[in-house]
Amino acid sequence: MCGITGYIGGEAALPILLSSLKKLEYRGYDSAGVALLDGGDILVRKTKGRISVLEEKLASEEKTEAKTEAETEAKTEAETGGKNVFGANAGIGHTRWATHGEPSDVNSHPHTDEADSIAVVHNGIIENYLVLRDWLYERGVSFRSETDTEVIAHLVTYYYQNEPEVNPGTGLGTRNILGAVRRTLSRLQGSYALAIIAAGYRDRIIVARKDSPLIIGLGRGENLVASDIPAILSRTREVLFMEDGELAVLYRDRVDLFNEQGNSVTRPPTHIDWTEEAAEKGGYAHFMLKEIHDQPKALQDTLRPRLRRSGDKPVDIDFDEINFDPRWAKRDRVVIIACGTAWHAAMVGKYAFEELARIGVEADIASEFRYRNPLLAPGDLVIVISQSGETADTLAAMRLAKKNGCHVLALTNVVGSTLSREADTVLYTWAGPEIAVASTKAFTTQLMCLYLLALKLGRIRGCLDEGNFRRCLAALEQIPGQCAELLAKQDVIQRFASRQFNKTKVFFMGRQYDYAVSLENALKLKEISYTHSEAFAAGELKHGPIALVDKTTLVVAAATRVSLFDKVVSNIREVSSRGASTLVITWEGESAFTKTADEVFFIPAPLWEDDKTEAAGQNRFRECFSPILSAVPAQLFAYYCSIQRGNDPDKPRNLAKSVTVE
Ligand code: M6R
Repeated sequence: MCGITGYIGGEAALPILLSSLKKLEYRGYDSAGVALLDGGDILVRKTKGRISVLEEKLASEEKTEAKTEAETEAKTEAETGGKNVFGANAGIGHTRWATHGEPSDVNSHPHTDEADSIAVVHNGIIENYLVLRDWLYERGVSFRSETDTEVIAHLVTYYYQNEPEVNPGTGLGTRNILGAVRRTLSRLQGSYALAIIAAGYRDRIIVARKDSPLIIGLGRGENLVASDIPAILSRTREVLFMEDGELAVLYRDRVDLFNEQGNSVTRPPTHIDWTEEAAEKGGYAHFMLKEIHDQPKALQDTLRPRLRRSGDKPVDIDFDEINFDPRWAKRDRVVIIACGTAWHAAMVGKYAFEELARIGVEADIASEFRYRNPLLAPGDLVIVISQSGETADTLAAMRLAKKNGCHVLALTNVVGSTLSREADTVLYTWAGPEIAVASTKAFTTQLMCLYLLALKLGRIRGCLDEGNFRRCLAALEQIPGQCAELLAKQDVIQRFASRQFNKTKVFFMGRQYDYAVSLENALKLKEISYTHSEAFAAGELKHGPIALVDKTTLVVAAATRVSLFDKVVSNIREVSSRGASTLVITWEGESAFTKTADEVFFIPAPLWEDDKTEAAGQNRFRECFSPILSAVPAQLFAYYCSIQRGNDPDKPRNLAKSVTVE
């Protein structure tokens, strides 16, 4: 997730771009940059770090420029070069959340072609960029950065120079920048929101969107483009929301909008009356709620580039990015290390690796692992999970594993983090920045990556036949959409929370995967609502926890193992008869709990292709992926309980987003 912006009008573009970028900084802050159209030139200024670092660099440039101007008062503009980022009236800007290529000056956007005649800012992922890079190499193009975006600038130039549009009447070719952008877009696979400027075209900015947000702000004598509404609110409240596949050309006094087929489209703008603060959170009251709602997209971004397809069906998992070593599949044991939510992901991973790949997993808490004398052997595969990639205990555990000669595979959300730099190989969760202290989308995308690893290893080890492997991939592919369906029903959870928020004890229970996700569900509630909440394996109920159950207790059971439903029904009866209120999270269409639980929240079941080897519905693999979905109602429950109690869910007391000290 990155933020992009653009301005064309009568005022100096630079301060407008910088102020817009600051409103988008929540989308990423690894680097920032701008490209301005000054006369016939494109002037790029970019740097690693936050927008404030870019501002400092520009301020010192402005000082030097003022001095030079004074010294060369007598010279004409032509003599001094006339290149001025400060006076330009059109430009584009970017704030980056690194995905391809570490945060660095050279990987910062905007990216340009070799002659700096095209500049591009991009939010999204170009999935086929390596293929396009090779294609361009063969045509003599050289690259400066490691990003996926740079191919776009070179492709536009390539098509502009080599494929002029031919006038059918005269037979003559004319160079056409819009045509070149269209040809470029037709080569891109993946997601993008793009803003492009071209040196010879100082009167326009070309923008396009597919699966990444982009809005156009319509001003008086000026027009703007941005990833999100807050970036344009100080200039205009009239907004065109771009649809997927649309392309637009922004001029100072008009906007030409085209659909995917290239036909001109018109539609009235939407008037926005949000406050600027509300707009920064995408209209959500808190970052946590926004991030919960980001999950369908985050899951999609994490999964889709890794699925290899035949026709429209996923048939394999592509792990070229981590130099997936088939020898890992020869090991019967994997160690997974993490803290907090990431450790709960590890616990789900333990069940998944065992079930799908028949590999034993030790899911270890980093702060425990680092002070033990753990049994490690050279070549062991150690998976280290951390959203931030900066958690002190997790880093120490990773270093211990490396010292013992293990191969460390990092699972992190932050490109350029310490973990990503020190691990042997890195698998990224492409969740975009997570601002709220309580982790939500990082957790579900961590699960997605762990499932992919388990499935890949399981297939190589022969634990999954081709049919079940493909069924599992198809089931995973349904999850982003199912997550969106779940979120559409959030009012059910909101109402439940408004009745239950003042319970003094909340217990989360489940068996197997449902136990692992219960650990996370309990943590969510405790950290933002300050309610005493604990999780336990449902089978443990009578071994202790039931002593605490009374009328002030809420028990939340996750129940997605159909073969164990009877046992969960008994557990629910046991706690209900002692006065507890109960909520069960289970599959859509299951009626096992309707008579026993006070409330049932349904999660969508996977559509499972016909399986001839086992009775329909009995294939045990179909239940494996439930934690990604059953975490979502618990996140919403925690959020709404926190609100009901008058807390700030984004900044819970005593907690920090990243625990970088012991
Ligand atoms: O950045 P990390 O994933 O390493 O952080 C680990 C924990 O500190 C983190 O998950 C914490 O438990 C969250 N507040 C949970 O919501």
